[in-house]
Amino acid sequence: MFLKNELDQYYTNRPKSKDIWEKAVKVLPGGISHNIRTFGLPSIGAFPLFIKSGNGSHITDVDNNEYLDCWLGHFTMILGHNHPKVQEILKENISLGWHFGTNTEYQVNLAELIIKKNPGIEMMRFCTSGTEATMYATRLSRAFTKRKLVAKAILGWHGANDTLYYGVGNFNKETHPPGLRSEEEAGIKTFEVNNEQTFDMIKKNKKTLAAIILEPILGGGGGFRANLDFLKRLREETEKNDILLIFDEVITGYRFRNSLFQNELKIIPDLTTMGKIIGGGLPIGAIGGRKDIIERSSPQEENQILIGGGTFSGYPLSMIAGLKTLEILKDSQQQYERINHIGNRLLKSLNQFFTDNRLPFITRGYKSVVMIHVLSNFIENPTMRQIVGNSDKKGEALLHLALFNRNVVGLHGLGSISMAHTDEDIAQIKAVVEEIAQPVSDASKDL
Ligand SMILES: Cc1ncc(COP(=O)(O)O)c(C=O)c1O
Repeated sequence: MFLKNELDQYYTNRPKSKDIWEKAVKVLPGGISHNIRTFGLPSIGAFPLFIKSGNGSHITDVDNNEYLDCWLGHFTMILGHNHPKVQEILKENISLGWHFGTNTEYQVNLAELIIKKNPGIEMMRFCTSGTEATMYATRLSRAFTKRKLVAKAILGWHGANDTLYYGVGNFNKETHPPGLRSEEEAGIKTFEVNNEQTFDMIKKNKKTLAAIILEPILGGGGGFRANLDFLKRLREETEKNDILLIFDEVITGYRFRNSLFQNELKIIPDLTTMGKIIGGGLPIGAIGGRKDIIERSSPQEENQILIGGGTFSGYPLSMIAGLKTLEILKDSQQQYERINHIGNRLLKSLNQFFTDNRLPFITRGYKSVVMIHVLSNFIENPTMRQIVGNSDKKGEALLHLALFNRNVVGLHGLGSISMAHTDEDIAQIKAVVEEIAQPVSDASKDL
């Protein structure tokens, strides 16, 4: 009954989205241009939303339903949507033309701003997406070290490039899509964060490992945090064995402070990949790190390691929006503290609620990143493996549907908090989740 009522309400209030969806599935495989943007809804008989505008903490769909947005453009829009200062500078600059395929001063300014704040970034290079950045980071590592293997964290999401689309979905088997080579052929080893066996893997492969790449907080993988001790040891072991350590900070960069997360951890990797927030909501990726490594990509180098290319690399409007965003973030210390605090509080209070009511949900994340996992049964204090092993994907889709019906947009259960979110917004999100948790869990059993 709950599912039927939710579907009825969803369909009634979204006729335009439904029309667009019917056209979309005829021209775009699955109706989308990014796999997760279905929000899982087709698996339970619904269609995703089509959004027309955003402002502050809210977005509005084509049927004029307004939502509190926790998805925030894949964790990008830390200032909220349509920030007036970012909009103003984009408007000013768009009147001058928007793509020249040469160089602009803005990319130099943005690089300077990032390098100034981050001791781990001595030099950097821009591209258009995080997917490209991680692909280049591994290529650079292999060529620089003259070694073949790259180790990546299980559940780590570095974009869908051929190099790193391994061990993305679960722990149990090689989970690369058809069309990609096997892990062995591709020179990939996977490892588990916070697991002692990772160090055995390093020991065994220390002569052939070029690099180890991981997100300090597994983002797309579900908000699981690598322990500080694990990361410190990873740094020690890689340094000892001349293996490059790559932190993928596409999500964590500038998310918790006005710089990269590595500065909070006090662990400096050899290379760092960046994206999302540093482009202010326009397409961006970047790779930075030790000068002796990054500089090898220069065309002036005798032994150049070829990375880069990209018609839109260093795209002027992305550089301009990124610069303005980082300038605003420079003066946002209090705002960082506020959203870190409210995110933390939301995560803890939701988990308390789920535990008190023995509901099959668990929240994971860090500070302003808050993701809700829907499980097939209640587990008290579940481990990462238990959460992933008992994940209920249709239940998660139903959670998304029920959130949308109550004017909250979330993905991965929820997502993140922006500086535009108020305390009242957070109270509303918490109330909505608490209202729907029991019926979603009851109805999920029949899906
Ligand atoms: C940690 C991480 N790395 C890389 C990527 C890929 O970035 P993009 O989607 O910009 O290609 C993502 C995207 O979500 C990400 O979360």
